Formats: sequence, C-alpha cells, structure tokens
Amino acid sequence: MLAQDYWNEVGVEKDFEDPLYAEKLLKLLPLSSHIVEYGCGYGRMMNLLRAAGYEDLVGFDFAEGMITRGKKENPSLDLRPLEQSGRIPCTDASVDGMVMSTVLCCMTDPYEKMELIEEVLRVLKQGGILYITDFLQCSHPSYEKKYTQGMAEFGNWGTYRTNEGLVVRHYTSQEILELLVPFDLHWFEQFDFKTMNQNPARTFHCIAQK
Ligand SMILES: C[S@@+](CC[C@H](N)C(=O)[O-])C[C@H]1O[C@@H](n2cnc3c(N)ncnc32)[C@H](O)[C@@H]1O
Repeated sequence: MLAQDYWNEVGVEKDFEDPLYAEKLLKLLPLSSHIVEYGCGYGRMMNLLRAAGYEDLVGFDFAEGMITRGKKENPSLDLRPLEQSGRIPCTDASVDGMVMSTVLCCMTDPYEKMELIEEVLRVLKQGGILYITDFLQCSHPSYEKKYTQGMAEFGNWGTYRTNEGLVVRHYTSQEILELLVPFDLHWFEQFDFKTMNQNPARTFHCIAQK
C-alpha cells in the first residue's frame, strides 16, 4: 500500500499521542509567531500549540482524509491539503516556526527527507525555529524481528513493514543529527514512548534554529 493511501484510508482512523514540550518552545518562539506544521494530520499538535497560546497557525498534510477529519473535529484550525508532497506552500523566509511530528518516520527515501529539510530551511526566516519529534530505533526485543525482516527487504536496519503494510523508518540519533547539521540545536532529548498502535517506542524531541 502506498504511504499516502495508508494515511487516507487506515491512518486516518488512528489517534496520535506524542506530546509537545511547549515550555521549551515558548523560550525561543514568541506567541506572535507564524507557525507552520508539515504533516499536521488531523491537527492534534496544532491544538496543543493553540493551548500553549500560539494563534497564527497553519497545517499542511498530503492526506486529504486527515484534513477532512481535522476540519470536522477542529473547525477553527487552518488545515490544508498539500498540492505536492515535499513542497511547503510558503514563500522564502516567511515562517517563524516549523513543526514536524512523526513525519520523517513515514519517509523511507533518504533524498525525500533531505529535500524536506531543504524546504524547511527555505521557508524559515533566519533565526526561525524547527520543533521536530520522531521515532528512533528501539531496543525493545519486539523490534529485533521487525528490523531483521526489514533489513532483508529494504537493505537497512530500522526500516520495516508494519502489520498493516505501512513501511516506516526508525532512525539512529546520529542520522537525525546529520540531517540537522545546517541548524543550531537548542535541545535534543530521547524518551521511551509508544507508537500509534500502542507498541513500545523510542522517540526524540528536538528544537533547532536556522
Ligand atoms: C503519525 S501522523 C502524525 C500527525 C501529526 N503530526 C501529529 O503528530 O498528530 C503522520 C502524518 O504525516 C503525514 N505525512 C506522511 N508523509 C507525508 C509527506 N510526505 N508529506 C506530507 N505529509 C505526510 C501523514 O498523512 C500523517 O498525517
């Protein structure tokens, strides 16, 4: 199943739970900031941002189903479908803050995520902030088989096919740090958490500045 089809048909029924450490963000990003979320799903993170006091928010997602659900559940949020995956429809240096929560895990092509980071750099103002959270490779024994099968199928450790047929990638912290080399890192912390299917997971949260 194509990733976009998965998020429109299966993923659209899921509830996501990864937290937003708003107190960290508030130290670097004023409440008047224009914030864009890429891969906003049904607007859950945007609700958390709004609860923290941010008002100038817009979210984009490549799954129309997610946007439809979001607009139904949160009619006052500005949620928009993407015309082109990987292309953030904002002008150069126009955004104060970008949020990406569990989107990189959906990207198994290394060039796709490098290009997305380039896009983030393009739209962020100088000094703009990226809040990014995603999955790291997890040492829980249940992943040994998944990663081994993924290694055989995809040729790298950390990419695997879920029981629902979605191909996902869990990163090493080194891979994430390499991806974020163009930024100054203010905060990078790892946590034990869970996946949307309630499996154990290792995540990171990071605040980076252009
Ligand atoms: C696990 S959900 C997280 C949603 C939201 N960020 C949150 O934390 O509640 C991943 C989201 O990323 C979106 N997504 C995955 N790959 C994408 C891509 N290449 N471009 C845009 N959105 C993407 C999916 O449609 C889905 O809504």
